Amino acid sequence: MSERIAFIGGGNMASAIIGGLIGQGYAPGQLDVVEPFAATRDKLKSSYGVSAQAEPGAFLSSATMVVWAVKPQTFREAALQVRPHIQQALHLSVAAGIRSNSIVNWLGTQRVVRAMPNTPALIGKGISGLFARPAVTAQDKQQVTQVMADTGELLWVDVEEKLDVVTALSGSGPAYAFYFMEAMTTAGAEMGLTRDEAQQLAVATFIGAGELVRSSSESPKVLRQRVTSKNGTTDAAINSMEDDDMQAIFINAMYAARRRAQELGDEFGKA
Ligand SMILES: NC(=O)c1ccc[n+]([C@@H]2O[C@H](COP(=O)([O-])OP(=O)(O)OC[C@H]3O[C@@H](n4cnc5c(N)ncnc54)[C@H](OP(=O)(O)O)[C@@H]3O)[C@@H](O)[C@H]2O)c1
Repeated sequence: MSERIAFIGGGNMASAIIGGLIGQGYAPGQLDVVEPFAATRDKLKSSYGVSAQAEPGAFLSSATMVVWAVKPQTFREAALQVRPHIQQALHLSVAAGIRSNSIVNWLGTQRVVRAMPNTPALIGKGISGLFARPAVTAQDKQQVTQVMADTGELLWVDVEEKLDVVTALSGSGPAYAFYFMEAMTTAGAEMGLTRDEAQQLAVATFIGAGELVRSSSESPKVLRQRVTSKNGTTDAAINSMEDDDMQAIFINAMYAARRRAQELGDEFGKA
């Protein structure tokens, strides 16, 4: 394979992608990593056999794809350091909030794909929203699909603004699920279970409900209505939530997350 993939940033998200590629049969020699932190470099070497360098250099010139897995606030600085070493490459950014216009400005190429993953990607159970600039070819998109394959599901969106919604929904979404588990655990413990018992029940319930809805052809709404018999226990709970306008509270929260994603794009995207 002539493909060579360079990772800028070798943290959690890069490791998840690298682990997936090695599992798919990529040779460690096809992958390069730039990672300033020595302990992280050592871990990449011992876990996957990939070589990692503290700084960018001429070795990057053969990269056919560059995966940007740095924190949003360090992206610009890293891009300016890396740019002189890159020839022709497709760029894939997993950095939250950084808009493709900023990446184009910093790198001087239009071949840019943005991905918005979520934390379950670290165990291969994530979902990422992806957006490709018009200059990205179908073959480029295919390559990105392959690189991201082991992080979980992929959803390509047609306009970049949708990635801010993806951020508010699935990007921050695992925390919403944890928040509900937390509340259910607290309530269960208040009502007489031990915290461990309550947490076990809450976690298994989320996983079971998630798997049930995935294996069903019905929507979450229909499945919910089916387990809500009139005057039953679930009905009492749902009515209480509706009285408190829970859906509106939730929708407001997602608007807040999207607003913050837009602000971060403005803040970190400055030239
Ligand atoms: N983890 C997730 O589940 C997740 C989900 C959605 C989006 N993302 C996005 O993915 C990106 C990476 O996240 P992560 O969780 O993998 O973060 P991380 O573990 O902190 O990894 C970022 C790595 O980049 C390194 N780095 C910093 N400056 C650099 C530079 N100039 N050149 C090269 N490397 C540099 C950092 O090194 P130092 O430690 O030395 O600074 C760090 O090891 C972020 O933008 C994040 O928002 C992550």
